[in-house]
Amino acid sequence: MDDSIPQLLTYDDAALDTEFTRLTNQVQVDVTFLNSYEDRERFRLDWLGRKQGRLKLISEAWLKSAPPEAKKALGIRFNQLKQKIEAVLEAPTTASQESAVQGIDITLPGALRTPGIPHPLLKTMHEIVSVFHHLGYSTNLGPQVESDFYNFEALNFPPNHPARDTQDTLVIANQQTRPSRDRLLMRTHTSPVQIRTMIAQVPPIRIVIPGKVHRNDAADATHSPIFHQIEGLCVDTNITFSDLKGTLDHAMKALFGSDVKTRFFPSFFPFTEPSADVQISCIFCGGKGCRKCKHSGWIELLGCGMVDPAVFAAVTAERRKINPADDAYNPEKITGFAFGMGVERIAMMLHGVSDIGHFYSGDMRFLDQFA
Ligand code: DAH
Repeated sequence: MDDSIPQLLTYDDAALDTEFTRLTNQVQVDVTFLNSYEDRERFRLDWLGRKQGRLKLISEAWLKSAPPEAKKALGIRFNQLKQKIEAVLEAPTTASQESAVQGIDITLPGALRTPGIPHPLLKTMHEIVSVFHHLGYSTNLGPQVESDFYNFEALNFPPNHPARDTQDTLVIANQQTRPSRDRLLMRTHTSPVQIRTMIAQVPPIRIVIPGKVHRNDAADATHSPIFHQIEGLCVDTNITFSDLKGTLDHAMKALFGSDVKTRFFPSFFPFTEPSADVQISCIFCGGKGCRKCKHSGWIELLGCGMVDPAVFAAVTAERRKINPADDAYNPEKITGFAFGMGVERIAMMLHGVSDIGHFYSGDMRFLDQFA
């Protein structure tokens, strides 16, 4: 753009027309260069800027020194020019100018936004829960901050059981003055939700309980102080150990493949009697023996057992606080089984993950593999 404002030698109409035509043409040329928000801003300052804008300079150079009889003709043309410039600035921006306003270069390839996927742990949880949904189970959840009563006492843990020690359990601060059953802690397993469910509902019960649990454990390749479990509870008339075996054998086959075999080893949990550990035939070697199964051909996967009558008694005592005649969990009439499994352990086996820490690191190189 030519910045110089020429001197007007004469103020007759012809001279004014020549000069203003030249300026109008200049505006039209400038308009063809308006490609961005910044261009438009520069154009506005060039022409309308209050101190150095060309209209300001023109008005100073021409209007002020014009002879009185020429002022009207000059003023009309000046206003026409000004309206033209303002019309340019008021006109809607073109698409390319618009995108420049938003800082988008439409000539660049688009940004690829990949849709989110469930975290591998959530995915595994859904897979396990869905196996049980197909068997008619529903899902229950419970709090992670739990009381000693639900986490231990009602589950038949004796008062001095090592799990109750702060060595093993993360406790909430300043609970010493409360009665021991009300003291708060981070639940160490999902089993307390068995109690919450039975206090709230009458048999028949078939539920699975997925959730986070907390232990005062050091992290290593296979342990994490926070991890996930899925609990199961089935209570009805005539529930037997063979129902437990059939249910878990089906669930393991559904999860790991129909070739998988299960076996039940005697174990101990305070809230089940009898209790068992469930082992599955090694999914890596098919049971022949390898490093993964410590050459035994079997991998231990979960705990289970028949609900201990002491648990039904604790539930009944709670229910009788509301209805003294309650007899819904009379162990003479009903029985049940329960089981609990670690989600991380199963996810690690299903996907060949050797370090539990990968699940929590948020490293996209790891997570992307589950997309
Ligand atoms: N709560 C146990 C744990 O965290 C797991 C478990 C074992 C749950 C046996 C059960 C069960 O319901 O019957 O180690």
